[in-house]
Amino acid sequence: MTTAKSVLLPGDKSLTHRALVLAALATGVSEIEHPLASLDTRSMAGVLRRLGVDISSLRGGTVRVIGKGLGGGGFLQPSRSLNCGNSGTAARFLLGLLAACPWAATITGDASLRRRPMRRIVKPLRQMGASFTEPPTDGLPIEVRGGALRPIEYRSEVASAQLKSAVLLAGLVARVRVRLSEPLLSRDHTERMLRALGVPVESNGTTASLTPVESIPGFRMDVPGDPSAAAFLVAAALLAGREECVLRHVAVNPTRTGFLAVLKRMGARITVHDGGESLGEPVGDLVVGRGTLCGTTVTAQEIPALIDEIPVLAVLAATAAGVTTFHGVSELRVKESDRLGLLAANLRAVGVQCEAHEDSLTVEGTAAPPKGAVDTGLDHRMAMAFAVLGRVPGAAVRLSEYDSPGVSYPDFFNDLDRVAPAG
Ligand code: S3P
Repeated sequence: MTTAKSVLLPGDKSLTHRALVLAALATGVSEIEHPLASLDTRSMAGVLRRLGVDISSLRGGTVRVIGKGLGGGGFLQPSRSLNCGNSGTAARFLLGLLAACPWAATITGDASLRRRPMRRIVKPLRQMGASFTEPPTDGLPIEVRGGALRPIEYRSEVASAQLKSAVLLAGLVARVRVRLSEPLLSRDHTERMLRALGVPVESNGTTASLTPVESIPGFRMDVPGDPSAAAFLVAAALLAGREECVLRHVAVNPTRTGFLAVLKRMGARITVHDGGESLGEPVGDLVVGRGTLCGTTVTAQEIPALIDEIPVLAVLAATAAGVTTFHGVSELRVKESDRLGLLAANLRAVGVQCEAHEDSLTVEGTAAPPKGAVDTGLDHRMAMAFAVLGRVPGAAVRLSEYDSPGVSYPDFFNDLDRVAPAG
């Protein structure tokens, strides 16, 4: 091998969430190796423990989970509301699971999560037969009263893996058939993992159909590294441009790696070396070389496979030659912050010309080093994107806080220092 820097990333957030929930629903013991131990996944594990699931510490390298089985009857009714912290994935998955449990429970979260849209999840689950008490504005807290559910055929208006997974989980737990179509294919981890566990889940274009099973077995999963975390280091390596960087054992599911295609189009030299599979999920090593970037157009069809990477792609676009436009990005308004508005405001604050419209974002690249103060909105991906931009030679970027990366990537600043040392 070369003298390239090599980094082992934290376990994938989406896969860790799914592994925890599916292990909680399995019959028997599961072992999850290399899980992500961050605030979001600890919120998920914490709520599952409150429902009576035995889950060992996420920090120990391997998590052991004793499942409660399907049917919903094995979980305990919680005495107080279930707090999902900042995690939209936890809140939405658990709404699906609780819809099939024969009692009432309340889901809540931090100030950001309480503002995020939940009616999109409640609507199909209500059609399946669960009852909900919701706040007047779309958000949390929500009380869900679950029980026996009906099968559903549902056409979603948004491409959302959290919505799709909530409905698949409700069908799995209640043992009823579900079919869900979405306008564009969102990440398909839930479908792949369920198939790997022997559940008949058919994927036909943008439609996923689940046929009920009696039980799912306990399993072992080695969680590959998070491509969304990798994207920040890929960007930092491209900006620092000093030597080759290798990111090892990363999840390279094509519904997650849209950012690689866009970066290649912008002129980046990135290769993926095949590294096998883990519970139906393709794994690989990413090798990032040097390259100068130019602007590009990102189409609405490309967005679901790079939805979480838009903040970091936008800061890279700010350093590229020419203009980059992202189409079909209105979903960014309802992420951990209003990412569309905040991205544009922050890019302008550091001297980059940028316009946010209702459904698009335009960034004009500049050779001038970025300088100024950034409001992260307590959003982990906003903080990490602008920390990366701060590694452009000559830059002076100050963040309003440095703690939010703990939501998804607790070791972020250490890894960033390795790939692109400050100053
Ligand atoms: C996720 C799905 C996406 C993504 C989020 C994680 C998942 O959200 O933005 O960070 O693990 O299913 P939507 O389902 O709202 O698109």
